[in-house]
Amino acid sequence: MQDNNQIIIALDMDDHKQVLSLVKQLDPARCRLKIGKELFTSFGPKLVKKLQKLGFDIFLDLKFHDIPNTVYKAVKAACELDVWMLTIHSSGGSEMLRAARTAVDESEHKPLLIAVTVLTSLSDKDMAEQGIQRSAAEQVLRLASLAQQNGMDGVVCSAEEVPSIRRLLSKSFVLVTPGIRPAGDEAQDQKRVVTPRDAISAGSDFLVIGRPITRARKPAEKLNLILDEISGTGAVLC
Ligand code: C5P
Repeated sequence: MQDNNQIIIALDMDDHKQVLSLVKQLDPARCRLKIGKELFTSFGPKLVKKLQKLGFDIFLDLKFHDIPNTVYKAVKAACELDVWMLTIHSSGGSEMLRAARTAVDESEHKPLLIAVTVLTSLSDKDMAEQGIQRSAAEQVLRLASLAQQNGMDGVVCSAEEVPSIRRLLSKSFVLVTPGIRPAGDEAQDQKRVVTPRDAISAGSDFLVIGRPITRARKPAEKLNLILDEISGTGAVLC
């Protein structure tokens, strides 16, 4: 997907003032913003509207996973917020995925509909625990295929899985990758981390980056360094 605004900043914070003070340092032409369950549960649609008024595209990452009728209605409500991207779980099954697709197609605003494959916090051991007789990486491919067959615009996956998904699925399928760490940054709780430049080289369309930017002393400067790195005009950060 050709889009030059490829960084999505994950606003994983619980303090409204902190969010606004961070966001005011950022340029909507240089990043998009992700609102997840924590922030949405506390501040809801009002915060979405506030950030949109500042010019930002919003990725509403609520990872819907429920019966088809409930997901249909939840996706419709999310479309009304005019968000740019939203997530559902691929493991909800074909019927649920198609219900979400229908909800977007029937809505006036049409966000990118992205399916979460296997959470990066899950390992092969967790697959076995759930009775799934394949590795997490194989399960990612399976769920990515299911997502494409049922009309999703793309998937969330680890940048490590991007090359195999790109080989299997169409080039226009949107790949959104968290677990990004500039060289030299701490991995924190992320298990499989990839640098911004490597993720883009592998074929990621959008990079979800949280703490490396939100906890930086100068977030806007850190974002600019990452953008220089991925455009090839800056040094690989270290
Ligand atoms: O701070 P950090 O860069 O690790 O934040 C990554 C963001 O991406 C978090 O909001 C996390 O919930 C999200 N995410 C993830 N792994 C997934 C899906 C989403 O880290 N598989």
